[in-house]
Amino acid sequence: MIAAPLDSADVSREPLIAPSLLSADFARLADEVARVADADWLHVDVMDAHFVPNLTLGLPVVEAIQRVSPVPLDCHLMIEDPERWAPGYAEAGARNVTVHAEACTDPRKVARDLRAAGALAGLAIKPGTPLEDYLDVLGDFDTFLVMSVEPGFGGQSFIADVLPKVRRARELVDAGELRLLVEIDGGINAGTIEQAAEAGVDMFVAGSAVYGADDPAKAIAALRAQAAAAMRG
Ligand code: DX5
Ligand code: ZN
Repeated sequence: MIAAPLDSADVSREPLIAPSLLSADFARLADEVARVADADWLHVDVMDAHFVPNLTLGLPVVEAIQRVSPVPLDCHLMIEDPERWAPGYAEAGARNVTVHAEACTDPRKVARDLRAAGALAGLAIKPGTPLEDYLDVLGDFDTFLVMSVEPGFGGQSFIADVLPKVRRARELVDAGELRLLVEIDGGINAGTIEQAAEAGVDMFVAGSAVYGADDPAKAIAALRAQAAAAMRG
């Protein structure tokens, strides 16, 4: 069974804000999830200390977050062997599960397995990875995550050099050659979100800009308004 991928509301080009839990207080996860209840998605960074030089959390913690989160989970797997591990996150109820292209031996199979388990399938590329290398497989995915920092840590500076990849993906979506949400992750804040929105991003991950704010709900609303204005041009 292949789950219906994106519905028309998903692709309406309203900005979607996904706070990254990486910048939250891990000792108070349920409270930290509740603080971003106004978000569109909750971005959960899974790192295995092999694909990236950092270790965060895995499936049991994602299952626990899923039970308390009022918003759908966007799991970003920065792990080796995603073929083996990714479907478990879909089975846990994550709405979108993103794997790294650089870690996949068979991206199409991962997409198929994720959709069969009821999730959207996402493909991520690191800042130095060309979009062209994966154009042929992107047709099988529902979301495309362009990393705008080297994966591994929150709080890094935005790499604007990745924006041509966003523009190209946007063109392909607008031309009807791809049907997916374009997501950006890393260094998104009030100073960078507009250029990302202008380039064609649909879904904005923000860790330190949301959890580092005194009022995360206000930060989410402000980022959403900025992105919406920039999208309207
Ligand atoms: C980095 C993670 C990001 C990170 C973003 O590897 O994938 O999701 O949490 O954090 P900021 O928004 O602080 O750059
Ligand atoms: Zn992430």
